[in-house]
Amino acid sequence: MAIITNIADLRERHRRRVPRMFYDYVDSGSWDELTYRDNESAFARIRLRQRVAVNLENRSLRMRMIGEEVAMPVALAPTGLTGMQWADGEILAARAAEKFGVPFTLSTMSVCSIEDVAAQTTKPFWFQLYVMRDRDFIASLVERARAAGCSALVLTLDLQIMGQRHQDLKNGLSTPPRLTPGNIANMMTKPAWCLAMLGTRRRQFRNLVGHIPGVENLTSLAQWSAEQLDPTLNWEDVAWIRDLWGGKLILKGIMDPADARLAAESGADALIVSNHGGRQLDGAPATIEVLPGIVDAVGDQIEVWVDGGIRSGQDVLKAMALGAKGTLIGRAFNYGLGAMGERGVTRCLEIIANELDLSMAFCGYRDINDVNADVIWPAA
Ligand SMILES: Cc1cc2nc3c(=O)[nH]c(=O)nc-3n(C[C@H](O)[C@H](O)[C@H](O)COP(=O)(O)O)c2cc1C
Repeated sequence: MAIITNIADLRERHRRRVPRMFYDYVDSGSWDELTYRDNESAFARIRLRQRVAVNLENRSLRMRMIGEEVAMPVALAPTGLTGMQWADGEILAARAAEKFGVPFTLSTMSVCSIEDVAAQTTKPFWFQLYVMRDRDFIASLVERARAAGCSALVLTLDLQIMGQRHQDLKNGLSTPPRLTPGNIANMMTKPAWCLAMLGTRRRQFRNLVGHIPGVENLTSLAQWSAEQLDPTLNWEDVAWIRDLWGGKLILKGIMDPADARLAAESGADALIVSNHGGRQLDGAPATIEVLPGIVDAVGDQIEVWVDGGIRSGQDVLKAMALGAKGTLIGRAFNYGLGAMGERGVTRCLEIIANELDLSMAFCGYRDINDVNADVIWPAA
Protein backbone atom coordinates (compact mmCIF):
# COMPACT_ATOMS: atom_id res chain seq x y z
CA MET A 1 0.00 0.00 0.00
CA ALA A 2 1.31 3.42 -0.93
CA ILE A 3 2.40 5.62 1.97
CA ILE A 4 -0.09 8.31 2.96
CA THR A 5 1.76 11.61 3.22
CA ASN A 6 -0.93 14.27 2.82
CA ILE A 7 -4.67 14.91 2.75
CA ALA A 8 -4.74 14.47 -1.04
CA ASP A 9 -3.59 10.85 -0.56
CA LEU A 10 -6.48 10.22 1.85
CA ARG A 11 -8.88 11.79 -0.63
CA GLU A 12 -7.73 9.50 -3.42
CA ARG A 13 -8.06 6.41 -1.24
CA HIS A 14 -11.51 7.56 -0.09
CA ARG A 15 -12.57 7.96 -3.73
CA ARG A 16 -11.51 4.42 -4.55
CA ARG A 17 -13.13 2.77 -1.52
CA VAL A 18 -16.54 4.39 -1.15
CA PRO A 19 -19.54 4.19 -3.52
CA ARG A 20 -19.66 7.14 -5.83
CA MET A 21 -22.83 8.72 -4.45
CA PHE A 22 -21.29 9.08 -0.97
CA TYR A 23 -17.86 10.16 -2.16
CA ASP A 24 -19.45 12.78 -4.41
CA TYR A 25 -21.60 13.99 -1.51
CA VAL A 26 -18.38 14.96 0.30
CA ASP A 27 -16.32 16.12 -2.62
CA SER A 28 -18.65 18.62 -4.22
CA GLY A 29 -20.00 22.12 -3.80
CA SER A 30 -23.17 23.85 -4.92
CA TRP A 31 -23.90 24.85 -8.54
CA ASP A 32 -20.70 25.82 -10.37
CA GLU A 33 -18.55 25.14 -7.29
CA LEU A 34 -16.93 28.59 -7.54
CA THR A 35 -16.98 29.07 -3.77
CA TYR A 36 -15.97 25.49 -3.09
CA ARG A 37 -12.86 25.92 -5.23
CA ASP A 38 -12.18 29.47 -3.96
CA ASN A 39 -12.06 28.30 -0.35
CA GLU A 40 -9.00 26.22 -1.19
CA SER A 41 -7.35 28.47 -3.77
CA ALA A 42 -7.58 31.56 -1.54
CA PHE A 43 -5.45 29.74 1.04
CA ALA A 44 -3.01 28.80 -1.70
CA ARG A 45 -2.53 32.44 -2.68
CA ILE A 46 -1.39 33.49 0.82
CA ARG A 47 2.37 33.40 1.35
CA LEU A 48 4.19 32.78 4.64
CA ARG A 49 7.18 34.68 6.00
CA GLN A 50 10.20 32.52 6.80
CA ARG A 51 12.53 33.44 9.68
CA VAL A 52 15.82 31.74 10.51
CA ALA A 53 18.24 31.31 13.38
CA VAL A 54 15.46 31.46 15.97
CA ASN A 55 15.41 28.91 18.81
CA LEU A 56 12.78 26.37 17.75
CA GLU A 57 13.02 23.88 20.58
CA ASN A 58 10.02 22.90 22.75
CA ARG A 59 7.16 23.83 20.49
CA SER A 60 3.48 23.70 21.41
CA LEU A 61 0.22 23.65 19.47
CA ARG A 62 -1.96 23.47 22.56
CA MET A 63 -4.50 26.17 23.14
CA ARG A 64 -8.11 26.70 24.21
CA MET A 65 -11.29 26.84 22.17
CA ILE A 66 -14.26 28.16 24.21
CA GLY A 67 -12.26 27.32 27.31
CA GLU A 68 -11.67 23.67 26.34
CA GLU A 69 -8.04 22.64 26.04
CA VAL A 70 -7.23 21.32 22.57
CA ALA A 71 -4.13 19.57 21.25
CA MET A 72 -4.23 21.94 18.28
CA PRO A 73 -6.78 24.56 17.19
CA VAL A 74 -8.62 22.24 14.80
CA ALA A 75 -12.06 20.78 15.51
CA LEU A 76 -13.92 18.23 13.39
CA ALA A 77 -16.78 20.09 11.69
CA PRO A 78 -20.30 18.66 11.70
CA THR A 79 -20.87 16.66 8.52
CA GLY A 80 -24.01 14.79 7.55
CA LEU A 81 -24.03 11.14 6.46
CA THR A 82 -20.58 10.53 7.93
CA GLY A 83 -21.73 7.05 8.87
CA MET A 84 -22.12 6.28 5.16
CA GLN A 85 -18.45 6.95 4.42
CA TRP A 86 -17.50 4.08 6.73
CA ALA A 87 -19.79 1.91 8.85
CA ASP A 88 -20.40 3.64 12.22
CA GLY A 89 -18.35 6.58 10.91
CA GLU A 90 -19.41 9.19 13.47
CA ILE A 91 -18.41 6.91 16.35
CA LEU A 92 -15.02 6.23 14.74
CA ALA A 93 -14.35 9.91 14.00
CA ALA A 94 -15.39 10.92 17.53
CA ARG A 95 -13.03 8.29 18.98
CA ALA A 96 -10.13 9.47 16.82
CA ALA A 97 -10.80 13.08 17.86
CA GLU A 98 -10.97 12.31 21.55
CA LYS A 99 -7.76 10.27 21.46
CA PHE A 100 -6.01 13.08 19.60
CA GLY A 101 -7.41 15.76 21.90
CA VAL A 102 -9.51 17.83 19.50
CA PRO A 103 -13.27 18.50 19.56
CA PHE A 104 -15.69 16.40 17.53
CA THR A 105 -19.02 17.86 16.35
CA LEU A 106 -21.94 15.55 15.68
CA SER A 107 -24.30 16.74 12.95
CA THR A 108 -28.09 16.71 13.29
CA MET A 109 -27.92 14.76 10.00
CA SER A 110 -25.61 12.07 11.34
CA VAL A 111 -26.16 8.36 10.87
CA CYS A 112 -25.12 7.40 14.42
CA SER A 113 -27.35 9.04 17.03
CA ILE A 114 -26.34 11.38 19.85
CA GLU A 115 -26.92 8.54 22.30
CA ASP A 116 -24.86 6.07 20.21
CA VAL A 117 -21.86 8.38 20.05
CA ALA A 118 -22.11 9.23 23.76
CA ALA A 119 -22.21 5.53 24.65
CA GLN A 120 -19.14 4.74 22.53
CA THR A 121 -16.91 7.64 23.66
CA THR A 122 -15.66 8.92 26.98
CA LYS A 123 -15.22 12.68 26.51
CA PRO A 124 -17.98 15.22 25.81
CA PHE A 125 -18.48 16.15 22.16
CA TRP A 126 -20.31 19.07 20.52
CA PHE A 127 -23.73 18.78 18.92
CA GLN A 128 -24.71 20.70 15.79
CA LEU A 129 -28.31 21.79 15.45
CA TYR A 130 -30.32 22.53 12.33
CA VAL A 131 -33.46 24.45 13.10
CA MET A 132 -36.56 22.63 11.89
CA ARG A 133 -40.15 23.74 11.69
CA ASP A 134 -41.13 21.39 14.49
CA ARG A 135 -39.97 23.36 17.55
CA ASP A 136 -40.97 20.59 19.95
CA PHE A 137 -38.54 18.36 18.10
CA ILE A 138 -35.81 21.02 18.36
CA ALA A 139 -36.41 21.22 22.10
CA SER A 140 -36.17 17.43 22.35
CA LEU A 141 -32.90 17.38 20.36
CA VAL A 142 -31.43 20.04 22.65
CA GLU A 143 -32.55 18.00 25.64
CA ARG A 144 -30.98 14.84 24.20
CA ALA A 145 -27.69 16.69 23.60
CA ARG A 146 -27.74 17.86 27.21
CA ALA A 147 -28.55 14.37 28.51
CA ALA A 148 -25.66 12.97 26.44
CA GLY A 149 -23.28 15.40 28.13
CA CYS A 150 -22.47 17.50 25.03
CA SER A 151 -20.25 20.41 26.04
CA ALA A 152 -21.34 22.88 23.34
CA LEU A 153 -24.15 23.44 20.89
CA VAL A 154 -23.19 24.49 17.34
CA LEU A 155 -26.16 26.28 15.82
CA THR A 156 -25.96 26.35 12.02
CA LEU A 157 -27.50 29.51 10.57
CA ASP A 158 -26.74 29.13 6.85
CA LEU A 159 -29.00 26.24 5.92
CA GLN A 160 -32.58 27.48 6.20
CA ILE A 161 -32.85 26.62 2.53
CA MET A 162 -30.59 24.34 0.54
CA GLY A 163 -28.10 25.01 -2.23
CA GLN A 164 -28.18 22.55 -5.11
CA ARG A 165 -25.42 20.06 -5.70
CA HIS A 166 -25.80 18.68 -9.20
CA GLN A 167 -24.01 15.45 -8.49
CA ASP A 168 -26.25 14.49 -5.57
CA LEU A 169 -29.30 14.83 -7.80
CA LYS A 170 -27.70 12.82 -10.59
CA ASN A 171 -26.57 10.11 -8.18
CA GLY A 172 -29.99 9.88 -6.51
CA LEU A 173 -28.35 10.39 -3.12
CA SER A 174 -30.44 8.94 -0.32
CA THR A 175 -30.05 6.89 2.85
CA PRO A 176 -30.19 3.99 2.62
CA PRO A 177 -28.79 4.24 -0.93
CA ARG A 178 -31.38 4.08 -3.68
CA LEU A 179 -30.70 0.82 -5.49
CA THR A 180 -30.78 1.96 -9.10
CA PRO A 181 -28.94 -0.28 -11.60
CA GLY A 182 -26.16 2.33 -11.78
CA ASN A 183 -25.76 2.48 -8.00
CA ILE A 184 -25.80 -1.32 -7.66
CA ALA A 185 -23.15 -1.65 -10.38
CA ASN A 186 -21.00 0.95 -8.65
CA MET A 187 -21.43 -0.65 -5.22
CA MET A 188 -20.38 -4.04 -6.54
CA THR A 189 -16.98 -2.48 -7.16
CA LYS A 190 -16.77 -1.52 -3.44
CA PRO A 191 -17.11 -4.90 -1.65
CA ALA A 192 -15.31 -3.88 1.56
CA TRP A 193 -17.67 -0.95 2.04
CA CYS A 194 -20.74 -3.12 1.34
CA LEU A 195 -19.67 -5.83 3.78
CA ALA A 196 -19.01 -3.33 6.56
CA MET A 197 -22.36 -1.66 5.95
CA LEU A 198 -24.17 -5.00 6.15
CA GLY A 199 -22.48 -5.52 9.51
CA THR A 200 -24.00 -2.45 11.19
CA ARG A 201 -27.54 -1.46 12.05
CA ARG A 202 -26.64 2.20 11.71
CA ARG A 203 -27.73 3.07 8.18
CA GLN A 204 -30.31 5.82 8.70
CA PHE A 205 -30.54 9.31 10.17
CA ARG A 206 -30.72 7.92 13.67
CA ASN A 207 -31.11 11.30 15.40
CA LEU A 208 -34.39 11.62 13.55
CA VAL A 209 -35.86 8.28 12.57
CA GLY A 210 -37.92 6.87 15.40
CA HIS A 211 -37.89 10.21 17.22
CA ILE A 212 -40.46 12.19 15.25
CA PRO A 213 -43.92 10.80 14.53
CA GLY A 214 -44.48 10.31 10.82
CA VAL A 215 -40.90 10.08 9.63
CA GLU A 216 -40.31 6.38 10.19
CA ASN A 217 -40.32 5.88 6.45
CA LEU A 218 -37.91 8.68 5.84
CA THR A 219 -35.60 7.78 3.01
CA SER A 220 -34.75 10.91 1.15
CA LEU A 221 -32.44 13.63 2.40
CA ALA A 222 -33.82 16.12 -0.11
CA GLN A 223 -37.42 15.38 0.81
CA TRP A 224 -36.77 15.70 4.52
CA SER A 225 -34.81 18.90 4.11
CA ALA A 226 -37.43 20.53 1.95
CA GLU A 227 -40.14 19.71 4.47
CA GLN A 228 -38.39 20.31 7.78
CA LEU A 229 -35.71 22.98 7.43
CA ASP A 230 -37.22 26.21 8.72
CA PRO A 231 -36.95 29.16 6.32
CA THR A 232 -38.28 31.51 9.04
CA LEU A 233 -35.20 31.08 11.27
CA ASN A 234 -34.18 34.49 12.72
CA TRP A 235 -32.30 36.06 15.62
CA GLU A 236 -35.26 35.62 17.98
CA ASP A 237 -34.96 31.89 17.44
CA VAL A 238 -31.26 32.14 18.22
CA ALA A 239 -32.14 33.79 21.56
CA TRP A 240 -34.75 31.10 22.23
CA ILE A 241 -32.26 28.31 21.55
CA ARG A 242 -29.56 30.05 23.61
CA ASP A 243 -31.93 30.13 26.61
CA LEU A 244 -33.20 26.62 26.02
CA TRP A 245 -29.66 25.25 25.89
CA GLY A 246 -28.08 27.43 28.56
CA GLY A 247 -24.55 26.14 27.83
CA LYS A 248 -21.72 27.07 25.46
CA LEU A 249 -23.14 28.25 22.14
CA ILE A 250 -21.32 28.45 18.78
CA LEU A 251 -22.96 30.17 15.79
CA LYS A 252 -21.96 28.69 12.43
CA GLY A 253 -22.24 30.19 8.97
CA ILE A 254 -21.32 33.87 9.47
CA MET A 255 -19.91 35.59 6.36
CA ASP A 256 -20.63 39.28 6.94
CA PRO A 257 -19.39 41.72 9.62
CA ALA A 258 -22.99 42.92 10.17
CA ASP A 259 -24.09 39.37 11.00
CA ALA A 260 -20.95 38.91 13.10
CA ARG A 261 -22.01 41.90 15.23
CA LEU A 262 -25.46 40.37 15.73
CA ALA A 263 -23.79 37.08 16.63
CA ALA A 264 -21.60 38.84 19.20
CA GLU A 265 -24.65 40.63 20.66
CA SER A 266 -26.56 37.35 20.86
CA GLY A 267 -24.39 36.21 23.74
CA ALA A 268 -22.85 33.28 21.86
CA ASP A 269 -19.37 32.12 22.89
CA ALA A 270 -17.92 31.69 19.40
CA LEU A 271 -18.84 32.20 15.77
CA ILE A 272 -17.63 30.25 12.78
CA VAL A 273 -16.84 32.16 9.61
CA SER A 274 -18.19 29.58 7.18
CA ASN A 275 -19.84 29.30 3.80
CA HIS A 276 -20.74 25.68 4.52
CA GLY A 277 -17.72 24.47 2.59
CA GLY A 278 -19.01 26.06 -0.63
CA ARG A 279 -22.21 24.01 -0.47
CA GLN A 280 -24.73 26.84 -0.11
CA LEU A 281 -24.38 30.27 -1.80
CA ASP A 282 -22.19 29.69 -4.84
CA GLY A 283 -20.42 32.97 -5.57
CA ALA A 284 -19.79 33.81 -1.91
CA PRO A 285 -16.16 34.70 -1.24
CA ALA A 286 -13.65 32.33 0.29
CA THR A 287 -13.90 32.26 4.08
CA ILE A 288 -10.23 33.13 4.59
CA GLU A 289 -10.84 36.33 2.63
CA VAL A 290 -13.70 37.52 4.84
CA LEU A 291 -12.06 36.42 8.11
CA PRO A 292 -9.95 39.58 8.73
CA GLY A 293 -12.96 41.91 8.34
CA ILE A 294 -14.96 39.87 10.84
CA VAL A 295 -12.07 39.70 13.30
CA ASP A 296 -11.79 43.51 13.05
CA ALA A 297 -15.51 43.90 13.69
CA VAL A 298 -15.99 41.56 16.67
CA GLY A 299 -12.72 39.79 17.50
CA ASP A 300 -12.54 41.42 20.93
CA GLN A 301 -16.10 40.37 21.86
CA ILE A 302 -16.42 36.76 20.71
CA GLU A 303 -14.09 33.94 19.62
CA VAL A 304 -13.90 33.97 15.84
CA TRP A 305 -13.19 30.63 14.16
CA VAL A 306 -13.09 29.74 10.48
CA ASP A 307 -13.70 26.71 8.28
CA GLY A 308 -13.71 26.02 4.54
CA GLY A 309 -10.90 24.79 2.33
CA ILE A 310 -8.50 23.75 5.09
CA ARG A 311 -6.44 20.87 3.69
CA SER A 312 -3.15 21.31 5.52
CA GLY A 313 -1.42 22.61 8.63
CA GLN A 314 -0.17 25.53 6.56
CA ASP A 315 -3.80 26.51 6.00
CA VAL A 316 -4.47 26.36 9.75
CA LEU A 317 -1.40 28.52 10.37
CA LYS A 318 -2.63 31.12 7.86
CA ALA A 319 -6.06 31.20 9.52
CA MET A 320 -4.55 31.67 12.98
CA ALA A 321 -2.23 34.38 11.65
CA LEU A 322 -5.22 36.23 10.18
CA GLY A 323 -6.92 36.35 13.56
CA ALA A 324 -8.89 33.09 13.94
CA LYS A 325 -8.91 31.58 17.43
CA GLY A 326 -9.73 28.17 16.05
CA THR A 327 -10.50 26.25 12.85
CA LEU A 328 -12.67 23.35 11.74
CA ILE A 329 -12.15 20.73 9.06
CA GLY A 330 -14.96 18.99 7.18
CA ARG A 331 -13.79 17.25 4.04
CA ALA A 332 -10.26 16.58 5.27
CA PHE A 333 -11.42 14.23 8.03
CA ASN A 334 -14.13 12.69 5.83
CA TYR A 335 -11.42 11.76 3.32
CA GLY A 336 -9.49 10.11 6.13
CA LEU A 337 -12.56 8.27 7.38
CA GLY A 338 -13.58 7.06 3.93
CA ALA A 339 -10.01 5.96 3.25
CA MET A 340 -9.22 4.04 6.44
CA GLY A 341 -11.92 4.43 9.09
CA GLU A 342 -10.78 5.58 12.53
CA ARG A 343 -7.11 5.16 11.56
CA GLY A 344 -7.67 7.48 8.62
CA VAL A 345 -9.14 10.25 10.80
CA THR A 346 -6.18 9.89 13.15
CA ARG A 347 -3.84 10.04 10.15
CA CYS A 348 -5.57 13.20 8.93
CA LEU A 349 -5.09 14.86 12.33
CA GLU A 350 -1.45 13.73 12.51
CA ILE A 351 -0.72 15.12 9.06
CA ILE A 352 -2.27 18.50 9.86
CA ALA A 353 -0.60 18.74 13.29
CA ASN A 354 2.78 17.89 11.82
CA GLU A 355 2.45 20.42 9.01
CA LEU A 356 1.21 23.08 11.43
CA ASP A 357 4.04 22.47 13.88
CA LEU A 358 6.80 22.59 11.25
CA SER A 359 5.37 25.53 9.31
CA MET A 360 4.94 27.53 12.52
CA ALA A 361 8.58 26.79 13.32
CA PHE A 362 9.78 27.82 9.85
CA CYS A 363 8.08 31.16 10.51
CA GLY A 364 10.03 31.50 13.74
CA TYR A 365 7.36 30.65 16.34
CA ARG A 366 7.30 28.00 19.04
CA ASP A 367 3.85 28.52 20.52
CA ILE A 368 0.67 28.63 18.45
CA ASN A 369 -0.77 31.17 20.91
CA ASP A 370 1.89 33.70 19.81
CA VAL A 371 1.26 33.42 16.06
CA ASN A 372 0.06 36.70 14.53
CA ALA A 373 -0.12 38.60 11.25
CA ASP A 374 3.69 38.81 11.09
CA VAL A 375 3.60 35.26 9.79
CA ILE A 376 1.91 36.42 6.57
CA TRP A 377 4.08 37.74 3.75
CA PRO A 378 2.57 41.10 2.81
CA ALA A 379 0.54 41.05 -0.41
CA ALA A 380 2.23 42.94 -3.25
C1 LIG B 1 -20.14 16.10 3.40
C2 LIG B 1 -20.45 17.33 4.18
C3 LIG B 1 -21.56 17.36 5.01
C4 LIG B 1 -21.83 18.49 5.77
N1 LIG B 1 -22.89 18.47 6.64
C5 LIG B 1 -23.06 19.50 7.50
C6 LIG B 1 -24.03 19.43 8.52
O1 LIG B 1 -24.73 18.43 8.66
N2 LIG B 1 -24.17 20.50 9.34
C7 LIG B 1 -23.40 21.64 9.23
O2 LIG B 1 -23.55 22.58 10.00
N3 LIG B 1 -22.45 21.71 8.27
C8 LIG B 1 -22.25 20.68 7.41
N4 LIG B 1 -21.26 20.73 6.48
C9 LIG B 1 -20.34 21.91 6.47
C10 LIG B 1 -19.16 21.66 7.39
O3 LIG B 1 -19.55 21.69 8.75
C11 LIG B 1 -18.05 22.70 7.19
O4 LIG B 1 -18.61 23.99 7.29
C12 LIG B 1 -17.33 22.55 5.86
O5 LIG B 1 -17.16 21.18 5.55
C13 LIG B 1 -15.97 23.21 5.93
O6 LIG B 1 -15.32 23.14 4.69
P1 LIG B 1 -14.25 22.00 4.30
O7 LIG B 1 -15.05 20.76 4.01
O8 LIG B 1 -13.62 22.56 3.08
O9 LIG B 1 -13.32 21.81 5.46
C14 LIG B 1 -20.99 19.63 5.68
C15 LIG B 1 -19.88 19.60 4.83
C16 LIG B 1 -19.59 18.46 4.10
C17 LIG B 1 -18.38 18.45 3.22
